[in-house]
Amino acid sequence: MKIFKKNKVVVFAAAALMALPLSKAFAQKVTPADAKMDAFVSGLMKKMTVDEKIGQLNLVTVGRATTGAVVNSNVEAGIKNGNIGGVFGVWGTEYVQKIQDLAVKNSRLHIPLIFGLDVIHGHRTIFPIPLGMSATWDMGLIQESAQIAAKEATAEGLNWVFSPMVDIARDPRWGRISEGSGEDPWYGGQVAAAMVKGYQGSSMTNADAVMACVKHFALYGGAEAGREYNTVDMSRIKMYQDYLPPYKAAVDAGAGSFMSSFNTVDGIPATGNKWLLTDLLRKQWGFKGFVVSDYTAVNEMSNHGLGDLQTVSALALKAGLDMDMVGEGFLKTLKKSLKEGKVTQAEIDIACRRVLEAKYKLGLFNNPYKSIDPEREKTDVMTPANLQASRKIAEHSFVLLKNANQVLPLKKSGTKIAVVGPLADDKRDMLGTWVVAGEWEKSVSVLEGIHHIVGNNGTVTYAKGSNITEDTMFMNRLNYFGQQMVSIDKRSSDDMLNEAVKNAKDADVVVAVVGESQSMSGESSSRSDISIPESQERMLKALAKTGKPLVIVLFNGRPLTLTWEDEHADAILDVWAPGTEAGNAVAEVLFGNYNPAGKLTATFPRSVGQIPIYYNHKNTGRPYSGGPTKFKSNYLDISNDPLYPFGYGLSYTTFSYSDVKLNKTNLKGNETLTATVTVTNTGKYEGEEVVQLYVSDPVASISRSVQELKNFKKINLKPGEKQDVTFNITPADLKFYNSRLQYDWEPGEFIIRVGTSSVDTHMAKVNWSK
Ligand code: BGC
Repeated sequence: MKIFKKNKVVVFAAAALMALPLSKAFAQKVTPADAKMDAFVSGLMKKMTVDEKIGQLNLVTVGRATTGAVVNSNVEAGIKNGNIGGVFGVWGTEYVQKIQDLAVKNSRLHIPLIFGLDVIHGHRTIFPIPLGMSATWDMGLIQESAQIAAKEATAEGLNWVFSPMVDIARDPRWGRISEGSGEDPWYGGQVAAAMVKGYQGSSMTNADAVMACVKHFALYGGAEAGREYNTVDMSRIKMYQDYLPPYKAAVDAGAGSFMSSFNTVDGIPATGNKWLLTDLLRKQWGFKGFVVSDYTAVNEMSNHGLGDLQTVSALALKAGLDMDMVGEGFLKTLKKSLKEGKVTQAEIDIACRRVLEAKYKLGLFNNPYKSIDPEREKTDVMTPANLQASRKIAEHSFVLLKNANQVLPLKKSGTKIAVVGPLADDKRDMLGTWVVAGEWEKSVSVLEGIHHIVGNNGTVTYAKGSNITEDTMFMNRLNYFGQQMVSIDKRSSDDMLNEAVKNAKDADVVVAVVGESQSMSGESSSRSDISIPESQERMLKALAKTGKPLVIVLFNGRPLTLTWEDEHADAILDVWAPGTEAGNAVAEVLFGNYNPAGKLTATFPRSVGQIPIYYNHKNTGRPYSGGPTKFKSNYLDISNDPLYPFGYGLSYTTFSYSDVKLNKTNLKGNETLTATVTVTNTGKYEGEEVVQLYVSDPVASISRSVQELKNFKKINLKPGEKQDVTFNITPADLKFYNSRLQYDWEPGEFIIRVGTSSVDTHMAKVNWSK
């Protein structure tokens, strides 16, 4: 059904597709560049045997980095025989060159391999975990992190990264909430686009650009009970409105590839879901890249109950999956299925074409070695500039959750500081989840960072105070990969605690560095209890009893339940897992060299029982908003409110907001509404503020979310300075998916809210007619 004409833009529409509910006008443009690529790929494919075509659909790992349960064997022979299209889990020019040589010099058609890796928040220079990075509310910084990651990854032979992960998550029990941008679909879309642009640069043929792989398509973050790999089941409206927008934003930003997710969508595993991979992704959204499965996700369709390997492999191909990661279902069964008429040659061809097109777009047919440059490996990796960027981004990602009596920032001199906690003198846990090529030994601990700033001008003592956990079953799970990620100190718990308490009593202020270790979040790291582990809680309680000001520096890969900490600590600085420059960044913020401005992108519950909890929920028929509780939507034993809401985060200074001024209150059609607030820095420090715009649609044909984030602006104000912040609002900001899944807006009243978090806003009302 493809029509190509040289040097001309041809637009065609597939009539059959017009019947699809959302495919308004599915049309594809064929540019001269597309036509050139098509001619090249078609020419190559004419020379390929069926086996070689199927070989292109086979992605293997050689196990340098273990990211799944099995690894492939006979890779060398497979590459020479043309049975492998790409390799992942490798890096380093010497190694990659050897593998590329096998394909380019020793295979019949010399087709280069694509090299992938889980470069998620940095390659060698590690940035904050994505959830932390999203708390910067700074797309420039987020894009910069991806650019640097691409530069480092390409300096080590890679051309494809399995990032960004854009799965919306509303359940912090799910360990992979750490890898995404939180709970908001619009904001998630902004981050997705920034990451794709950062990785792919102005052209994927550039030597320092990689192809992004958007994952996990789709809805992976909706796992029931927050349990990893669990079933996902939701209405189409919820998908379209709340979960799909970031994937769509990544398509619009030009992402070159997608990864299918492990879960089911509408009862069918995503990896074999034709509606998802073809109707939605390609026909409705116009995605032109290729789709790779997640790790053995084709094979896992058998466990989902869809049939044997041959059946599920055929299903996946027919659904629109192009590349099979690790499981070799395509390699082992597609030829048989072709002979038996279970798949067609055209289906194999289209998948093969898409993989070859990706290699073409990366410029690999021109130069298979374009990112294999031993010189760049020496000059472009972990440079001072990259480390500086990592520190800056980390500082911007920290969220100040509490700061009673302005205990922070700390004085740089003349203060006696007791640094305590199992994460204080720790390098291993600074990097967070997904650091395949990152070296934790090179990271800066919090204790080191504090020493760098205090030098000889104050007194810093250190005591570990407690183990990260003393639950041996939990610890064994955290040490899955054999390393001692978490270990128990040789001293008794009481000895450790007494030392910490003694130091605290002698000090002016206590800085307790606690929370989750690296392996407590990320893939396959769901938790049913998301509090700080008991051994650390015990230490915090003892420290609080000393009566000394208690500052908690919190490491976490997810929102935690912190009700006790919120009540008893004087300050809480959430630093997530900040990356290579962790300790330096933490110290810069603790001592006020940088004033924290991060805002939460995922709600912090008071208790696990409130989960899922998110700001853009719907009203019920019996909403609770104070007063008598019976027959209202609430709990008997806890409030509905989160501990820390979406968009929340304090500063060392304070900001005041004026009322919202609108340019008009009655609008019609495509008019633009402007909403302006004046924000004033009313405190003593210069600081940044994320001014947030939310819109509510109180009367509609379906029940809408109580409010939705539509925009934000990050501003910087000196003490006493004020600034007008104006948002333009158009009908595009009022649109939603109705019960027929049409994306449109409905006239009526709208509430415009502007403020410092999702629960602290000023509002104004407008009437908008069509
Ligand atoms: C994960 C993906 C990852 C892949 C390759 C899977 O287990 O779900 O996010 O990209 O492994 O390492």
